[in-house]
Amino acid sequence: MWKSVATVLFTLSLVNPTFAAAQEAPANQKSLPEQIVDAFNAVYGAHPGARANHAKGVIVEGTFTPTVSAASVSKAAHFQKQKKPVPVTIRFSDAGGIPTVPDTNAIPRGMAVKFTLPDGAKTDMVLLSYNGFPVATAEEFRDFLLAIAASGPDAPKPTAFDNFLGAHPAAKAFVEAPNLQPVSFATQAYYGINAFKFTNAAGAVTFGRYQVLPVGGPKFLSKEQLAKMGQDYLVDEIGKRVRRSPAKLKLVLQIAGPGDKIDDPSIAWPDTRKKVELGTIAITKTTTESHTADKLLFLPGTVTAGIEAADPMIAIRSAAYPISFARRFKSQ
Ligand code: HEM
Repeated sequence: MWKSVATVLFTLSLVNPTFAAAQEAPANQKSLPEQIVDAFNAVYGAHPGARANHAKGVIVEGTFTPTVSAASVSKAAHFQKQKKPVPVTIRFSDAGGIPTVPDTNAIPRGMAVKFTLPDGAKTDMVLLSYNGFPVATAEEFRDFLLAIAASGPDAPKPTAFDNFLGAHPAAKAFVEAPNLQPVSFATQAYYGINAFKFTNAAGAVTFGRYQVLPVGGPKFLSKEQLAKMGQDYLVDEIGKRVRRSPAKLKLVLQIAGPGDKIDDPSIAWPDTRKKVELGTIAITKTTTESHTADKLLFLPGTVTAGIEAADPMIAIRSAAYPISFARRFKSQ
């Protein structure tokens, strides 16, 4: 899926000075998060004001209302009974580092959520529309991106990316996953992929992965419908939808079962695992924030008491996103 976007962009990447800079830099002297941001820039080029990945997006606002069962899982403030719903800021996005990528071909899509807790503190969730990840670790993710960057149209066959896919079945499954395009950013499911540890008021611990599921079920376009869509159809659609009525999605926690790996996001846990409904997200409005160069930073490791990172990939992600954030504004 990223391959299709990346393939189109190789020529761009190869003439982009950032690509050359990333190749010349002594990569082994850089931290792993910085190496990964360099690798994204090598695949997509650098675009002033844009994120290294998920560069194109749209920002909306709404509320989160917890269920009664949410408090049984975690003492986190937004999972307790509320006097009024918790405000949320959400950014939906297309995969890839090109801010003008057509919405018609940019999977997996992203959903980033920032909850404003009753005391004003923030807690985030950053999810993808794919249940799983191409690789198990952050090191392998760097290598996945470097293999894409090294496999341009003129690369001899088998390319570095062909070899990578041959050695990583989860990456092959990810690249070959059905290319479904949703009716709306709000009509598809999103997955937290990395596991978190949840502690309730009595001290009981649960390991789980978030899922955000559209109320009314997922809705995708047929090939014929997709052919009629413009390149910004998703970014344009969500505002119109929420002006008519709130778009609702359920936040669910998939609970780890015996033998489920906490530290390997490339393996989706079986769908038969117990799920606890945590609450409902209702998207009610768009924002005045720029959709092309916003100043928002969503961090998977920004969590509140009652939630802790369990998968080690979360710490690497939380170190990489601010590096991309700093680069967003560097050349402006
Ligand atoms: C080692 C693994 C990963 C690394 C290093 C990484 C790195 C990045 C970077 C550098 C950005 C741009 C951040 C910014 O400029 O604000 C980003 C954005 C994003 N990533 Fe990751 N990522 C990783 C794994 C994941 C996973 C597992 C998910 C989903 C569960 C995910 C979902 C997203 C989303 C949705 C965005 C856009 C966030 C926004 O709208 O601000 N990433 N990622």
